[in-house]
Amino acid sequence: MSAWTAIIDDVIDHVNLLKELGERSVELDPALMRASAKPVPAPVSSPAQSSVFQPPSPAAAPASSPATTPEARRAALDETSARIDACDACALRQQRTRSVPGQGNFNSPDVMFIGEAPGYEEDKQGLAFVGAAGQLLTKMIAAMGYTRDDVFIANICKCRPPGNRAPLPEEMQKCLPFLREQIKIIRPKTIVLLGGTAIKALLETQAGVNRIQGQWTQYEGIPVMPTFHPSYLLRFEPAKHDAWRALKLVLAHLGKPVPGTAK
Ligand code: URA
Repeated sequence: MSAWTAIIDDVIDHVNLLKELGERSVELDPALMRASAKPVPAPVSSPAQSSVFQPPSPAAAPASSPATTPEARRAALDETSARIDACDACALRQQRTRSVPGQGNFNSPDVMFIGEAPGYEEDKQGLAFVGAAGQLLTKMIAAMGYTRDDVFIANICKCRPPGNRAPLPEEMQKCLPFLREQIKIIRPKTIVLLGGTAIKALLETQAGVNRIQGQWTQYEGIPVMPTFHPSYLLRFEPAKHDAWRALKLVLAHLGKPVPGTAK
């Protein structure tokens, strides 16, 4: 395959995804014409509108991470990952293959995505969101103008519940301190919570995903955007529009180019 064919295939994939997500017009950024379409850094603009919570401007987000250099963050995260791997506080340890601490950009990335728990593929590979739902998440990340390496991807539970059942409340309670530690170290500029389980666990709310998806809230001063889980979007396509709208609010808040918005 020539380099041009690969580039054109990438552009077609990107346009098809935006169409799937409900866009009716597409502006092609020159960056897209490069095989690895990285986001074009843009100055921070005013935060997106929200009926529930105005996220603080990115500059105002507290920078109270205990580790502030890349090396210190790496060391702190590795230490947390080692404790995750050794943890036997719940029964999930006995049946899992590998722990899945999460992966990606740990230096205050624009976005940290948080899902529920590893599935079959994640358990085999030790990586978050690498199965079918992960493939859709990868596309959504690309539609935002990022790669998976630009963001951090993690879960509430770090071990796979057998048969992909939802994690039990006590399993989530045992595992949540690890995620809270990771957020403190990584200090993402925004958090996207994927699905009801992640929303309820991190925000300690009973509110269902349908009620609060697409509305800003916050966790420890970090703007949080709750939306649907990619597995749900695979089963119920019409919800992709709502999820995409939520992700566009995140881009607007970060001052990034928002697809479908005239300059
Ligand atoms: N579903 C999740 O919530 N997390 C994963 O890592 C994979 C599937």
